[in-house]
Amino acid sequence: MVTSSPSYLCYFVVSVLLLSLPSHSADPDPLQDFCVADFTRASKSDNVFPCKPIEEVTSDDFVFDGAREKGNITDVFGLNVTDGNVLAFPALNTLGVSMNRVNFAPGALNPPHSHPRASEIGIVIEGTILAGFVTTNNVYYSKVLTAGQMFVIPRGLVHFQLNVGHGNALSITAFNSHLPGASKLPLNMFSTTPSIPDQVLTKTFQVDQDVITSIRSKFG
Ligand code: GLV
Ligand code: MN
Repeated sequence: MVTSSPSYLCYFVVSVLLLSLPSHSADPDPLQDFCVADFTRASKSDNVFPCKPIEEVTSDDFVFDGAREKGNITDVFGLNVTDGNVLAFPALNTLGVSMNRVNFAPGALNPPHSHPRASEIGIVIEGTILAGFVTTNNVYYSKVLTAGQMFVIPRGLVHFQLNVGHGNALSITAFNSHLPGASKLPLNMFSTTPSIPDQVLTKTFQVDQDVITSIRSKFG
């Protein structure tokens, strides 16, 4: 029987309020058509940036040329990631999307990493790539992909891509965040400021000090 006593009413209102809250949060919905980021008025800790005055916004703001060229491959993994996030492409501010261009030299690895604020969808444009991710229960899913095939990485899960073809490879990845963030596992462990104590790493990986010293030296 339905009752209208104050306590039931209160319970009902609280339940409706809780149900309307998302069970996880993503970038918030925009409150205006656009808000081209004005970094000159931003503070270092901002993730959402103040808007450029509307009268200064032009068509050029909505175009990003930075991913036209293949970036230089200089890192130890043989990889170049051109970020098309809000920091590179200010018109993405508050729109909840971003995109990367990822170039792989032969044998290159996009090392295990995760994006705390976004799921990732990617398409292979050139070459042959082994794409894999690991669930929070340590189940590993992977597939070798060639040009035209797409893949998806659920938000926050550790994933990698390895160029398993004979030549270069290229993929384009997209995210449901204007700044998805990337926690790169090797750097998170071996290249932090200040350093994680060696004792923590020897114990974590169950190895001797010289192994940790050797790995650290690879990441500077
Ligand atoms: C690929 O995993 C990327 O983060 O661009
Ligand atoms: Mn990724």
